[in-house]
Amino acid sequence: MKHLLSIESLTAQDIETILGDTAVMKSTRGQHDEHPLRHQCWALMFSKSSTRTRVSFEVGIRELGGDALFLAAADIQLGRGEPIRDTARVMGRMLHGAVIRTFAQKDVEDFAAFSGIPTINALTDEEHPCQILADLFSIRETRGSLDGLRVAFIGDGDCNVARSWIWAAARCGFELTIAAPPKFQPPVELLERAGGKVRLTSDPSEAAAGADVLYTDVWVSMGKEEEAAYRLAQFQGYQINAELVALATPGALVMHCLPAYRGKEIDEATLEAHADTIFRQAENRLHTQKAIMACLVKNAQRSC
Ligand code: CP
Ligand code: NVA
Repeated sequence: MKHLLSIESLTAQDIETILGDTAVMKSTRGQHDEHPLRHQCWALMFSKSSTRTRVSFEVGIRELGGDALFLAAADIQLGRGEPIRDTARVMGRMLHGAVIRTFAQKDVEDFAAFSGIPTINALTDEEHPCQILADLFSIRETRGSLDGLRVAFIGDGDCNVARSWIWAAARCGFELTIAAPPKFQPPVELLERAGGKVRLTSDPSEAAAGADVLYTDVWVSMGKEEEAAYRLAQFQGYQINAELVALATPGALVMHCLPAYRGKEIDEATLEAHADTIFRQAENRLHTQKAIMACLVKNAQRSC
């Protein structure tokens, strides 16, 4: 693993390694003997807003001994039309790693190919791999394993987070049911390509019945703001609330990648009742991403 560009590109063993290393990072925070990013400078190049991803990467880079450079894409020449390939070739000569949040998946792939430095997808329109790895860690931390897991994703089944869940289900072998309005279901072609135990329904109750995890994400992803009114109308009835939670396995986890819009994809009472899980997911971004960066640096040194 030279880059982390998607869950699709990971093997089950890669995921297992990252989750195992995350446990070590979490339990040894503040006591690391090794600083794998010492003398390194990593850039965060973001074309979309972020709280959790930005903070967790900046803190994580520093805790691993490196320096972080935040570049808002609009502030650099990329924002005025310089091609990603040229940006990558410049940055690859000065930096040791890059964390990129953008629109097109191809842009992170091109950046990785043309920069030659370890590159991490911090969210594209297609995937949000760091989020789902942290979520898998959070589930395993609570349940002890992913064996026999049944996840229900309720909401925008064709967004980046849902797509990363599809690949995670395929790689790790758990059951995933996506409940989404017909126009917001992932393409059948994607499900066929991924394989695994993934079901689609337009009925949130069907997905929630017997689930161990109820998961949701915003109804209006970044970049989709012009469709907001249409989306809010389409997603009525897809809220995670007490009624839906009552259908799940007793003690089921309610998860949200955040930011949350109370009264839309989740109601206030349900979010607050499950705040321990939801904000632990956010915290685990830090530990997971430290494990990912340490792994990429180790692999880069091996191939030198
Ligand atoms: N969940 C997540 O990626 O949050 P941010 O958009 O705040 O980084
Ligand atoms: N699907 C959301 C995830 C936010 C972390 C978005 O892309 O805006």
